[in-house]
This record gives sequence, structure tokens and C-alpha cells, in this order.
Amino acid sequence: MCGIVGYTGSQSAITPLIEGLRRLEYRGYDSAGIALGTPGRLYIEKRAGKLANLEAALGDSVPTAHSGIGHTRWATHGGPTDRNAHPHVDNEGKLAVIHNGIIENYTQLRADLLSRGHRFESDTDTESVAHLLSDLRKSHNGDLAAAMREAVKSLRGSFTLLAIHADNPDVIVGVRRNSPLVVGLGDGENFLASDVAAFIDYTKRAVELGQDEVVTITSEGIEITNLDGAKLAPKEYEITWDSSAAQKGGFHHFMLKEIFEQPKAVADTLLGRLNERNQIVLDELHLTKEEVQDLKKIVVLACGTAYHAGMVAKYAIEKWAKITVEVELASEFRYRDSVIDNQTLVIAISQSGETMDTLMALRHAKEAGARVLAVCNTNSSTIPRESDAVLYTHAGPEIAVASTKAFLTQVIAVYLIGLYLAQVRGVMSDVEVKNLFNEMVELPGKIEQILETVEPLRELTRGFASSTSVLFLGRNVGFPVALEGALKLKELAYMHAEGFAGGELKHGPIALIEEGTPVIAILPIGHEHGLDEKMLSNIQEVKARGARIIVIAQEGAEVAGAEHIIRIPVAPALLQPILATVPLQVFAYEMAVTRGNDVDQPRNLAKSVTVE
Ligand code: AGP
Repeated sequence: MCGIVGYTGSQSAITPLIEGLRRLEYRGYDSAGIALGTPGRLYIEKRAGKLANLEAALGDSVPTAHSGIGHTRWATHGGPTDRNAHPHVDNEGKLAVIHNGIIENYTQLRADLLSRGHRFESDTDTESVAHLLSDLRKSHNGDLAAAMREAVKSLRGSFTLLAIHADNPDVIVGVRRNSPLVVGLGDGENFLASDVAAFIDYTKRAVELGQDEVVTITSEGIEITNLDGAKLAPKEYEITWDSSAAQKGGFHHFMLKEIFEQPKAVADTLLGRLNERNQIVLDELHLTKEEVQDLKKIVVLACGTAYHAGMVAKYAIEKWAKITVEVELASEFRYRDSVIDNQTLVIAISQSGETMDTLMALRHAKEAGARVLAVCNTNSSTIPRESDAVLYTHAGPEIAVASTKAFLTQVIAVYLIGLYLAQVRGVMSDVEVKNLFNEMVELPGKIEQILETVEPLRELTRGFASSTSVLFLGRNVGFPVALEGALKLKELAYMHAEGFAGGELKHGPIALIEEGTPVIAILPIGHEHGLDEKMLSNIQEVKARGARIIVIAQEGAEVAGAEHIIRIPVAPALLQPILATVPLQVFAYEMAVTRGNDVDQPRNLAKSVTVE
């Protein structure tokens, strides 16, 4: 949940470092800092607050250097202050370290180092590593990589570490454990970063690093070893998206751009998924027909928005494939004695592929014998690499912390899984599957229709800007949509928001309703259980107590009692989340803008939560 960059090569390092940090600011923005490698001494500058504060501090006093490391922080240990900003240095000021993650045994480390005479400047766990490396480098005759290999053996926790020393400023050493680190291969220059967005302007050649692998980069090349020093062959891959995809493209915020990218994201995720024999193509699953038929249950593991996509999966997969689906918050699942075995298919949903809670939960599931399918939006990230199979969504890079297009494509992905399982298990005919798939192919155009009403939607939202709380009601597959709408409003508008199952209202939450309370109700699409009538009753119940009601309703649906009706195109009931979610994203976006919040980097949050 911090952004890390390293550069060594023919350029002046300050530019790729600062530009790289700008691309990674979404990973954390409590403070930022750099260390530049000049012969004999390091140039260190770091500031609390956003990258702009660091840039202002740098001014014209920056020495020319051809190597360096940079860091943008999401604070874990030690408040977001100048003193706690990374890099952290040893007492000679010649070795600098930056870190993403948590060193769980730093307290003991710190005590040992203090007893050996080291002086500490900060409250962070990271600084312990700087002093430890300084000692070990001396005992390894100045070999920083050897020092790193030995240091890691005494560290517990999750971390990506980069280190640089003034005596060999061209050399940067990195290591990762449960936290992302990727190498960028340039011509006469090389890069290290938390993700490829940091260096994609310079090279599209990347190398993935595995667990406990130590990488050394110089301007001439790279070397990867395991903790015993054995050399490992670099696993190179080409980055598939370009840097313009990671820019705002004329929108005020990445989030609005990504809301508008949803039609393409959904279309790209559906591309090629039905063959000419009307069969769903999901070769990634790597399960034989017998294994699919023997599946006893599915367990979905995820966090936040991805968890809401998992909830949609439950409704769709149980209806289509007739397999029990349990949806678990990853952070809870890991500490429960859950009942899973080799006839359980675990689906780990993650946009970033680096969420620690989800990663640890899938490891727990694998230990119990389950097969794990990742649904992920980030190529070669840790969760897909540790899964048995991966279904990549094709949303493109999602930079805004609040997830939008990734959510819709995660829902599309679980729909595809549900239809595939139903087909292989013979529960749905090819014609039924084809018809539903064709309905899904219509969704991008329907999302476009909704996006044509963005301006009236934004104006409507401004009328609720003074609200202190908003409630969201949904039923059946609209219940996860209500939860997602509430989460978006919380994380963007810093406003109390809560999603409820409509049927639960009378069991307590209705006590929250008072004069003027905004309630957004997702009206179920004509449902065999008459859920739309039940939701209309819920609307009357809250209206009778003074609520101001906004209803998300399908074109043509009868709605009584609403102050505003937001129309969405007609679609089959189970596909409603793809359409009903979009107005809620816009509502939350506009509320954040109206309140003057930082839309793309909301307070206290980070795009990828790589600590438990
Ligand atoms: C959603 O808007 C949030 N940014 C957050 O809930 C996010 O969905 C969650 O942290 C999971 O992230 P992942 O999909 O990268 O695993």
C-alpha cells in the first residue's frame, strides 16, 4: 500500500523517480521521499503530504545523479510526518532503504540494534532494516545483495524493500515477500517498481519476481537470486497496455474516466467467450469435465467492492449452475475453521491481485486442498500467480482508488463462470447459455445509455449534498448493489451510508428513517417472486416516515412515492447489477466533487491494501 520506485541508468534519475512516484501515488499519499546515489554520499529529501510537497522541497538544489530510489507512503507504523517519511538511512547516512508492507518483528530488531549502538530517528518499522543492512553490509565486505539476503532471513511480515549505498550508487538491491515488486528492463537503464505503471513510459519489458527473490539492478543489467544466493533465470514478459491508458484522457478525475470506460471494459471482458458452438470458453479453469461435475461447492473470497461482486456470483451461479456458493470476507475466512476440500472451487476476486487479506485467505484454502481460480485485473500479480488458474478481467488499469470498471468486469467474470459451470454440468442448454450471453453482449450499449444521463444525475446528487447519511435498499441480486452504492459513498464522500436488504428494513434499520433521510432503492426487475411489489412496499414504508426517495428503476416499471426516478434499460433480472450500479457510482462521484474531496485519492485509503 505504498508506492516504490528505483532507477539506475544513463538518465538523470530524478525524472523517472518523480514521474514514477506520480503514477504510483494512488497506492498511498501520506508522504513521499527520494534518495539519489552520488559517489560517496546520498542526497535525501522527504516530506509529509502529497508528492507535490516533495517536489516543492526539491527546488533547484537537486544534484545530478544516475540512480536512486523513491517512495510514496500509506502510513502503518509511525504517523505521516517528515521524520517518518521514507527513505530511512543508517547512522552514517550512506545506506538508504524504502519499504512497502509491515515488518512484524521490528520491535525486537530495534531493541537489538539500539543495544549495538544504533541511533533511531523515526517511529517506523522500516528504519530497523536500514540499520540492520548497514551492519550486514560491513560483514559481507560491502556486498549489499548478500547483506539483503541475510537480512531477509531475520525479518517476519510482508515487505518489498529497496536499498542503495553511497559507495556503489549505481547498484540498487530489492527483495519482495507478499508484496509486489516488478523489474523494468531498459536500454542502458533498469527500473524497479511496485507496479509497471511507474516505468511504462520508458519500457514495456518487465520481469516478475517471486517470493523471497533478491534482485540487483545496475545500468548494465539485472541479477536475481534466491535467499541462498543461487542465481535464477529472469521471467520476462511484455506489458500489454500503454501509458495513455494510465492518464486521465481529458476527464477531471480518473474515476470519471473509468466510469466512462465501463462499456469497453465489459465488452473486452466478454470478447471471445462464446464459441461458434454456443459454448462458453473458459479454458483458463483447467478443470476436467469430471472435476467440474464433482464440485460440491464454490467459496468466493474477496474484500470490499470485490466482495460485492462475489455476492452477485452467489445469486447467478446458484441459479444457473445449481452449485452452492458461499461468499466470504477474505479477512474473516482466513481465521475460521471453514469446511473446504478438493471438491471445493475457491474463486479469489481481486482487481489489484495484491490484497493481502485475499492472498492469505487463498493460501489458507489451498492448504485445505481447494482449487483456486483467481479473477483479477492485473497481469502477473501475486494472487493469480499463487492460484491454480486465473480469469483476467480486461478493464485496463484502474487508477482511482474507488473501484468502478473493475467491479463491473468482476461481475461479468463471475457470470461467465456460472454459465460455463452450468453448461459443463448439463444444467443449462447451449441455447439458454447463448441467449443469456447475447443479453450480456447488449450490456455495453445499455451502460452507454445510462452514461448519457450523467449530467442530470450529477445535478440531482447536488441536491443531497447536505445530507449526513444515505441508506440504500436492494433485494435479491440488487442487495449487493445496495452495499456497493453505500461503500462508494462512504469512501468518496466520507458520508455515513449503509446498504440493506429491503426485507430487513422492518427488523431494525427503519428506525434510522427520519424527515428528509435520503433513501436510494434499487427496484428489482420483474421477478417471479414479486420482489418489485415488495420493494415498492418498502418505499412506501420509508416515505411514510419522511424519507426522500430516489429509485433506480427499469424503463417502463411502475414506481410510486419516489422524489426522483433514475431509469435504466431493460435487462434480465440477474444482469441488473451491471446497470443499476452505474448511477450509484455517479452519485458517489458527484457527492465527492461537491464536497471538495480528493476523488481519486480519498483520505485514509489506498488502491491496493497489501497489509492485513
Ligand atoms: C473499492 O472501491 C475499494 N477500493 C476497496 O474496497 C477494494 O475493492 C478492496 O480493497 C479490494 O481490492 P482488490 O480488488 O484489489 O483486491
